[in-house]
Amino acid sequence: MPGVAVPRSWGPWGAWSGVALLSALWLLWLFWVGPGGAPGGAPAPQRTLTILVWHWPFAHRPPELPSDTCTRYGVAHCSLSTNRSLLARADAVVFHHRELQTRQARLPLAERPRGQPWVWASLESPSHTRGLDRFRGVFNWVLSYRRDSDIFVPYGRLEPREGPVPPLPAKSKVAAWVQLPGQQRRVQLYRQLAPHLPVDVYGRANQRPLCVDCLLPTVARYRFYLAFENSQHPDYITEKFWHNALTAGAVPVVLGPPRASYEAFAPPDSFVHVDDFGSARELAAFLLGMNESQYRSYFRWRERFRVQRINDWRQRFCAICARYPHLPRDQVYQDLQGWFQA
Ligand SMILES: *[C@@H]1O[C@H](CO)[C@@H](O)[C@H](O)[C@H]1NC(C)=O
Ligand SMILES: *[C@@H]1O[C@H](CO)[C@@H](O)[C@H](O)[C@H]1NC(C)=O
Repeated sequence: MPGVAVPRSWGPWGAWSGVALLSALWLLWLFWVGPGGAPGGAPAPQRTLTILVWHWPFAHRPPELPSDTCTRYGVAHCSLSTNRSLLARADAVVFHHRELQTRQARLPLAERPRGQPWVWASLESPSHTRGLDRFRGVFNWVLSYRRDSDIFVPYGRLEPREGPVPPLPAKSKVAAWVQLPGQQRRVQLYRQLAPHLPVDVYGRANQRPLCVDCLLPTVARYRFYLAFENSQHPDYITEKFWHNALTAGAVPVVLGPPRASYEAFAPPDSFVHVDDFGSARELAAFLLGMNESQYRSYFRWRERFRVQRINDWRQRFCAICARYPHLPRDQVYQDLQGWFQA
């Protein structure tokens, strides 16, 4: 046997060296894979994790996934793939709910390697999520916008600003809203507001579509943006708040989860919450009666922060690797429906 000296006889010394060898191996194991990582702050060697994405969300063809995909989002040693041949050796498999729901997709349960973590991923609200009761005892981790998710992926966040604060766009109009299809509480609230507040409504439903690049410059001219969510659930705060309002430079008037939920994400004086008013009329009077210094105070956050939008599924899936060492190993969502609809 080349390179390894194997003791010929297990005399007392031989036995001792065997123990020593085992101890050394054990120490080595602790060193490389132990929970504390390498002692003394030396970086533990990292193995590249393979995340298999079973269906690419909302797409029949996945984007190109070059090997440095996650590095570009600041996550090292993480490989995303949609190659299902990797099922047998992927470190985690992620299933996006929409495709499970609409295509009634079959899960590869029979081929699942023992102990392989499966991730359920969705950024839709519970009101627009069906069929969860099919997945009892299947998933180990949840990727969603909810703060109590295993992999928490909000639609956006504030991050410290570096560099100068851009000037606030000049305002010539009062309030804008992009209406999306559906008859929900937001439509009802809009109807109650409209007699008291000049609101310009954009969107396909109103024959006033806004192209993707037109949204920000259009909303920028308004003092307020009606960031009404399609349904009201804990932490369900979408791009309507982060992008359409904050990034555009309009004060968000929010209809969504309670104020406390918004305050977990953004300063309390960065938005107007509809729940703070007894009626639509009162809300309209407040918005119209606001003087300039009061209005400007809603933008104080801009001195310290900028909005980071998180809207790319590649970035969201790379977050699985970033969280991987901290995720619970023996967890199973026996009642995913109960958890999500809670
Ligand atoms: C998928 O992975 C298998 C196994 O590693 C490999 O042989 C195959 O070429 C891959 N397919 C594609 C399309 O990359
Ligand atoms: C603006 O409104 C705020 C709040 O109502 C008030 O405290 C402040 O004095 C007003 N400023 C001016 C210049 O009118």
